[in-house]
Amino acid sequence: MSEQAEIILGGESYKMPVVVGTENEKAIDINNLRAETGYITLDSGYKNTGATVSSITFLDGEEGILRYRGYPIEQLAERSDFIEVAYLLINGELPTKKQLDDFSEAIKMHTLIHEDMRRFYSAFPTFAHPMGVVSSVTCALSTFYPESLNPHRGEDKVNLTMTRLLAKFPTIAAWAYKNSIGHPVVYPKNKLGYVDNFLNMMFSMPTDEYEIDPVVVNALDKLLILHADHEQNCSTSTVRLAGSSQANLYSSIAAGVTALWGPLHGGANQEVIEMLDRIREDGGSLDKWVAKAKDKNDPFRLMGFGHRVYKNFDPRAKIIKKACDDVLNRLGIKDPVLEIAKKLEEVALNDEYFVERKLYPNVDFYSGIIYRAMGIPKDMFTVLFAVGRLPGWIAQWKEMTANKEPIGRPRQIYVGPKVRDYVNIADR
Ligand code: CMC
Repeated sequence: MSEQAEIILGGESYKMPVVVGTENEKAIDINNLRAETGYITLDSGYKNTGATVSSITFLDGEEGILRYRGYPIEQLAERSDFIEVAYLLINGELPTKKQLDDFSEAIKMHTLIHEDMRRFYSAFPTFAHPMGVVSSVTCALSTFYPESLNPHRGEDKVNLTMTRLLAKFPTIAAWAYKNSIGHPVVYPKNKLGYVDNFLNMMFSMPTDEYEIDPVVVNALDKLLILHADHEQNCSTSTVRLAGSSQANLYSSIAAGVTALWGPLHGGANQEVIEMLDRIREDGGSLDKWVAKAKDKNDPFRLMGFGHRVYKNFDPRAKIIKKACDDVLNRLGIKDPVLEIAKKLEEVALNDEYFVERKLYPNVDFYSGIIYRAMGIPKDMFTVLFAVGRLPGWIAQWKEMTANKEPIGRPRQIYVGPKVRDYVNIADR
């Protein structure tokens, strides 16, 4: 007989089925808990709550494993490229040559954004954080494609929305940067590959042709692959939650961008570089900063350290650390904060506080140093995380819609005042 959980409440016993995943992950299925018992579960931060069954990404935090559709992240980072990984995540299988060519061509057909959207950019202040711009402009895509408002309008049309998003997102992102420095925007060039095109839109100037460096392209491609999906993290859950109300894909993705922005999630990559710069400017003494991170009365945290799921090591961080050395060497760049980062990692990994709590460097710890070596300004780091995460968000939205999942609507335990009578203002 398959395993069951027994819950005893008020002397009554209730049986709940156990769900087992492909990798032997186990969950107690409490779908009928409230109906049968009147109780709900309380789990702030959803630390123990599975919100869905999913066949996209497998993550084992104890073993440091990450796989997209069964393929180990190490193999994908080494041998695949971002567009192929996007296809894999969204469609479930690696593409044939023809499928990949068609997919890439379709994306190239849609890289321009509507000319009227350029006017949004001039309305944003130049000091606007690009994540705010990218989220707004992504949501605004829904106003230019009103047919996208119905997420059930047929597979071809939904696929077109996905293609448009993948195609336009780098343009939206690069234009946010150009706007922030007061430079004219650079239009996409469809003869270029996805990453080359993005770099060209970021760095090409009317005055100078930008020479695309293959070292930079390869490194950025790898970084995008490493960020492409991470199962039910905060921004992905946000995309699924927004989409569960049958909100259109553009606005669901815009919600994901906003959730990613926070410093505890994707915003950590910008925070890490700012922290490392601060440590360097402060003389480079690590003891003081490690002590601050451990002090419960000090809000400072070691940014780029710790993860809700990884409790051994973050496999993405391992790959990025190596890539960081390679890229800086090949570009002939010496960034003093790389040494500080490595020392900080060593100090923290040998410190009882971090060891006890299983706090390891995460994906954001070294990525910023690579971005900086590529010439990418720190305000854009989280935008690059978003460019990478886009296929994952799309795949998760697609899966949620295909599974006809119910609207996401958590419950709560109310602890406010009991019922009381309204008092007129003159009597208060
Ligand atoms: N520096 C110092 N202490 C920490 C840190 C840190 N970076 N991270 C966690 N802790 C402590 C925390 O204070 C707590 O200690 P105690 O048990 O004594 O109260 C314990 O470790 C457990 O932490 P938590 O906050 O309960 O863990 P969580 O799973 O809720 O949070 C996290 C995970 C990633 C938000 C957190 O580790 C953190 O704030 N890290 C820094 C921000 C960061 O790098 N975020 C990027 C995450 S990876 C990219 C992504 O996918 O989003």
